[in-house]
Amino acid sequence: MKTSTVAELLAKDIKLQEVDIKGWVRTFRANRFIALNDGSTLNNIQCVVNFENTDEETLKRITTGAAVHIKGELVESQGKGQSVEISVTSLEILGDSDPETYPIQPKKHSFEFLRENAHLRTRTSTFSAVMRLRSSLSFAIHKYFNENGFYYMHTPIVTGSDAEGAGEMFRVSALDPKNPPLNAEGDIDHKKDFFGKETNLTVSGQLEAETYAMSLGKVYTFGPTFRAENSNTSRHLAEFWMIEPEVAFMDLAGNMDLAEDFMKSVLSYVLDHNREDLEFLEKRLLDEEKTKPQAERSEMSLIEKLKFVVDNNFKRVSYTEAIEILRNCKPNKKKKFKYIIEEWGADLQSEHERFLVEKHFKCPVILFDYPANIKAFYMRLNEDGKTVRAMDILFPGIGEMIGGAQREERLDVLKEKMKALDIDEEELWWYLDLRKYGTAVHSGFGLGFERLVMFATGMGNIRDVIPYPRTPQNAEF
Ligand code: 4AD
Ligand code: MG
Repeated sequence: MKTSTVAELLAKDIKLQEVDIKGWVRTFRANRFIALNDGSTLNNIQCVVNFENTDEETLKRITTGAAVHIKGELVESQGKGQSVEISVTSLEILGDSDPETYPIQPKKHSFEFLRENAHLRTRTSTFSAVMRLRSSLSFAIHKYFNENGFYYMHTPIVTGSDAEGAGEMFRVSALDPKNPPLNAEGDIDHKKDFFGKETNLTVSGQLEAETYAMSLGKVYTFGPTFRAENSNTSRHLAEFWMIEPEVAFMDLAGNMDLAEDFMKSVLSYVLDHNREDLEFLEKRLLDEEKTKPQAERSEMSLIEKLKFVVDNNFKRVSYTEAIEILRNCKPNKKKKFKYIIEEWGADLQSEHERFLVEKHFKCPVILFDYPANIKAFYMRLNEDGKTVRAMDILFPGIGEMIGGAQREERLDVLKEKMKALDIDEEELWWYLDLRKYGTAVHSGFGLGFERLVMFATGMGNIRDVIPYPRTPQNAEF
């Protein structure tokens, strides 16, 4: 007989029949009722053990965490809380658990404790829901780009250029760290290293994605990126996944339209396909919020927040307008901000971004036309000579979700900018070639995947939305 999943057996119009199922015991109550979960859904199926056909020894081995194989009859449930249950005819223990030491007891565990047991935390309802949503969002992203004529491109993980300037990089080397070859100056001789030059883990696939946009037209990358910044916050990882579309002949306005449509599409996908998990996470969030002071509680529930983003336009605000708002706002005047905004040109900190989205506009905000000197070298210089066609998309509760720009397509302007920033032209000869041969307006952006998962699940710490988080001093698993 075919093995069914719990999700299949709990589906609405399931016919009562003989069934065969495998899963893990969540709880075993009154020596009779197993709550069985196999990861296919948030919900457990109740399996009712029959004393007559189960021996004493097997009964003892039905403990939380054990893997079991159950055969039985799917019947209408006598008890409350479920419409069907399995009347067990045969039960085989596939893998025992140890109730004394099994970390995932049927009780509330702190997220800190579960992080230390990240290999088992997806056996809890919260983490299985989060990771099913993560998978769904990832699928929705590929679906969106596929349906909109984008090609999926794999940009390299190991890179020889450090030009992006997006963050500190992790070195990649095959040299013996105890005894590296030295050159005449006494420095490490990278010519003798594996790639014959200094290499790092990539901080972004953008520059390579630009090369493909300038031939295939519409492309995107979706891969891991690495930043060795020592920022131990609830929003930063040293290894995170980034989605980076890049489009030829598209300007900044088109970039904003694309980003907004894309975000709405992937969020509405999970609203349509992950209801159960979202409703569970919504309840979890509500319980968590009850422990906070009234003023800090969110006015909207999780699903309301997602719907709000899907149904409303993002507010588009220039950096210059944002600075005016911030300069004149209460927390700035009363010196409540850690960094007081005094004049145009100031870099925005997350406290400012959060004020704009959470207190002032109360919706996602696209900030654009930033001062050139606080943004990357490749961004298109505006006619005013001091701002660039950059855009950041800020989300309530998250802050920066997306960073992007129209790219500088003029060879002379780009070269001048690189010179001013001391970026080696030889290192980026291929990037400059794009401006020499058939250059054109083009734009793109980067979405931090884990920040999207945080928003969609209502989880407050980025370590809880990626299977095995890499952060300073932590690379367990
Ligand atoms: O703003 P960033 O640094 O932009 C780039 O890397 C561009 N090359 C993207 C592009 O235009 N193609 O990073 C993009 C996004 C941020 O908005 C944020 O959501 C996320 O990546 N991000 C991080 N997420 C988790 N941990 C970190 N340390 C992150 N740094 C950036
Ligand atoms: Mg950024």
